[in-house]
Amino acid sequence: MARELERPNLRIITIDDTRAIHDDYRRVLGGEEVDDVLDDLEKEFFGETEEKALSENYEIDSAEQGEAGFEMVKSAYESGNPYALAFVDMRMPPGWDGFKTIQQMWKYDPEIQVVICTAYSDSSWSEIFGTLGQPDRLLVLKKPFDPIELKQLASALTAKWELTRRANTENDRLNALVTKATDDLKEVQAQNLQTQELESIGRLAAGVAHEINTPTQYVTDNIGYLSESIDGILPLIAQYQNLAAAAKAENFAPDLRSKIDDIEEEIDLEFLIEEMPSAAAQAITGIKRISQIVTAMQEFSHPGQKELTPVNINRMIESTMTIARNEWKYGAELELALQEDLLLVPCIADEFGQVVLNMIVNAAHAIEEARVEDPDREGLIRISTKLEGDWAVMRIPDTGAGIPDEIRDKIFDPFFTTKGVNEGTGQGLAIARSAVVDKHGGTVDCESSPAGTTFIVRLPLVVAAVSEEQDVAAAGPGDASD
Ligand SMILES: Nc1ncnc2c1ncn2[C@@H]1O[C@H](COP(=O)(O)OP(=O)(O)OP(=O)(O)O)[C@@H](O)[C@H]1O
Ligand SMILES: [Mg+2]
Repeated sequence: MARELERPNLRIITIDDTRAIHDDYRRVLGGEEVDDVLDDLEKEFFGETEEKALSENYEIDSAEQGEAGFEMVKSAYESGNPYALAFVDMRMPPGWDGFKTIQQMWKYDPEIQVVICTAYSDSSWSEIFGTLGQPDRLLVLKKPFDPIELKQLASALTAKWELTRRANTENDRLNALVTKATDDLKEVQAQNLQTQELESIGRLAAGVAHEINTPTQYVTDNIGYLSESIDGILPLIAQYQNLAAAAKAENFAPDLRSKIDDIEEEIDLEFLIEEMPSAAAQAITGIKRISQIVTAMQEFSHPGQKELTPVNINRMIESTMTIARNEWKYGAELELALQEDLLLVPCIADEFGQVVLNMIVNAAHAIEEARVEDPDREGLIRISTKLEGDWAVMRIPDTGAGIPDEIRDKIFDPFFTTKGVNEGTGQGLAIARSAVVDKHGGTVDCESSPAGTTFIVRLPLVVAAVSEEQDVAAAGPGDASD
């Protein structure tokens, strides 16, 4: 139940089967009787004062039976305008007694403060607290009551209701804060786990690549050797065949020739002669591809390297393209235009690889998305590198759907994504920007139109002092041109 807290809640309900008592409550709480007494007291202790202590504008409702009182409490609570305090008589024949009334009231409104008004003969302390427990919302006032006590109770308990309500509101606010902080923490933990997972996958990949590398090398050497041998043996076989034909013409060594014929037939010599060279060539192509992938895996997963070292970024781009092939090959062509004489660039290789990977994957997704609307749309991702002054510049244009103006400012925000729950975490560009800007002192920019998007990554070639570089980077390379 929400109740606005601007005004103190001075709503009181009195529940008593003696009609005249309700008037007493009103008279006392309305300020008449006690004020006279208090005025006398005040005068005695403090002299004349204009303030009338404990006088409040109570809003007093009454019920003459327990059940009727309970209904009033219930509907007041449900309509968001609850009572702060109830004075409840103990014996109210023929209906509910005070115990039952209070028990029912608290089921609906657990915040209401209650004073049980009881004559000495009504019930014992143990009976009261045995039935209702000893909740801190319950006080007992013995009849006949003293007007000052009644007024003090009203004042103290309405104030207590207010404080409890505020404390609960504050508690709810703190709980919400704690819940949010816990959720944020869980998210960060999940990110950390993901990063650790990526790192261990990187290490695993590097290990596997290393293991595959050695056998790959001797398979490559031996297939090369076999291929050359086939090329050498084929002309010799041709001469043997000529010799066999000449022997046949002369009817020389018929037994030997018949054995040769049998074997030629059995092994299908003509087919072998035709197929062996191309089988060897295909095996060589295959094994070259395997070693490319192995090298790419080794280059891509430089586990743990956190320092800037001179890196051939063209090679990194090629490796990443190989590694990410599965991500783009179904929807797009990937074209490279790398400036071959690009110098070694100060770089954290695996971080740069991750940047390229994220951007290739984003481009492939954008093309895929555009193809949903227009299946004939061209799917092309191009990666170029270029030396521009003191900067190595990589551009990645794609023919995807483009980035709408309204979200252009947000794409680098952590967790910003336009993709479905299991398709994107919105981290790719946030990680890319942090890697390029914070760790390399570079810049990342994005140009986009409905025809496609271009990401532009600039890495400084001079890294004398990273902080200076970051200042320069923040200002941008200025006259850099395409
Ligand atoms: N090349 C692009 N073309 C069109 N939109 C893009 C492109 N790259 C990024 N975006 C937009 O920027 C958003 C954020 O990209 P980001 O890489 O940070 O996260 P994601 O790709 O959604 O998820 P994640 O990379 O974590 O899997 C994307 O959801 C997409 O809307
Ligand atoms: Mg992404």
